[in-house]
Amino acid sequence: MNKKHTISSIKKAKNSQELLTMITAYDALFASLFQDSADIILVGDSLNMSFAGQKDTLNISLDQMIYHTNAVCKGAPNTFVITDMPFGTYITKEVALQNAIKVYQECPTDSIKIEGGEDKAEIINYLVKNGIAVCGHIGLLPQSVRGEGGYKVKGKDEDGAEQLLRDAIAVERAGAFCIVVEGVKAEVATKIAQSISVPVIGIGAGNCVDGQVLVFSDMLGLFEEFTPKFVKKYIDGATIVKNAVSEYKKEVSSRSFPQEIHTY
Ligand code: KIV
Repeated sequence: MNKKHTISSIKKAKNSQELLTMITAYDALFASLFQDSADIILVGDSLNMSFAGQKDTLNISLDQMIYHTNAVCKGAPNTFVITDMPFGTYITKEVALQNAIKVYQECPTDSIKIEGGEDKAEIINYLVKNGIAVCGHIGLLPQSVRGEGGYKVKGKDEDGAEQLLRDAIAVERAGAFCIVVEGVKAEVATKIAQSISVPVIGIGAGNCVDGQVLVFSDMLGLFEEFTPKFVKKYIDGATIVKNAVSEYKKEVSSRSFPQEIHTY
């Protein structure tokens, strides 16, 4: 069994050039399947889309995040877990702390993640000073989708790239132990990774950062509606599952299942 990461070992990974593998999970079953390979499991609010079938991440509640985090921690008790703080749960530092404490008290997660850069630095710092381990998230921010009118790749022009660098530096200074950088031009993400001392975990940010994160239902090819450019489907999970269930139906219809070996 792998040794469970801590925020210190995650920070140290950067110096030892050990690349970190993060994957989302939303339940105990998948978390237990991922635990041998994943350094970090993210209970992402993406579960609102790929698990709950909603159009974006915005209407998931803190209680739902806590429910799913408990399941994940049960399935992968020896893996470092990050829980996404949902939209609207960290609008002020006081609200953020109250909600982060609720998360810590109601599930055994190792840390929380909040979206935002310079604008969230004060909140992150307040959380860290009060004993909360915070993972940052800059670049394309899924919780801003309605405000921005879509998912926009960031860092495309000089001003955007400079803002992202300021965001990363502010989030690091505020005390985040690592930063997810999403949907950012590769050269900008590379510069960010070279400019800060905590690991940069990329998603759609090229391969010169300190680790990668993917949404599990995307990388297993289970989510069919839309595949972002940055996703690699390691298996065609949807076809595998559909074929298996179709085969099951055929065998039920023809009475070829159950057989003798499945019968008491
Ligand atoms: O919610 C999520 O799964 C995430 C990843 C896209 C990083 O935040």
